[in-house]
Amino acid sequence: NTERSLVLVKPDAVRRGLLGEILSRFERKGLVIEALELRTMDAELADRHYAEHVDKAFYPPLKAFMTSGPLAAVVLSGDQVIDVVRAMIGATDGRKAAAGTIRGDLALSNRENLVHASDSPDSAKRELALWFPNL
Ligand code: CMP
Repeated sequence: NTERSLVLVKPDAVRRGLLGEILSRFERKGLVIEALELRTMDAELADRHYAEHVDKAFYPPLKAFMTSGPLAAVVLSGDQVIDVVRAMIGATDGRKAAAGTIRGDLALSNRENLVHASDSPDSAKRELALWFPNL
């Protein structure tokens, strides 16, 4: 059944010129880009987006990184897109992510890991409302 997921192509990917490569992987998979916007996260949006992480030790540097420059906020749709995209992205730590995944092929960091994607239907609903309230 068709779902939507909120994907962020993070500032490291934009800086490294990997936006096209990453979007291309999603397109070649057959997923549909329903919305796409270059945005720079501000502190308030970071705290809301990462509400479950704000008290963690890794949050201050994560927030600094995520607000450090433009990112691409993307709405993807497709059959089981939430799980499909997470499989395509790979494990959080780019050093451990499987080859063939976006992080496994292109990232070497636990923080600067190129892509964020909703991890469940509930988080997709929450994140889509946060980033694309008019969709
Ligand atoms: P993301 O999928 O956006 O969800 C939370 C983010 O926090 C994660 O990707 C990483 O960018 C970052 N992150 C998660 N765990 C760690 C960690 N142990 N150290 C540094 N950054 C982390």
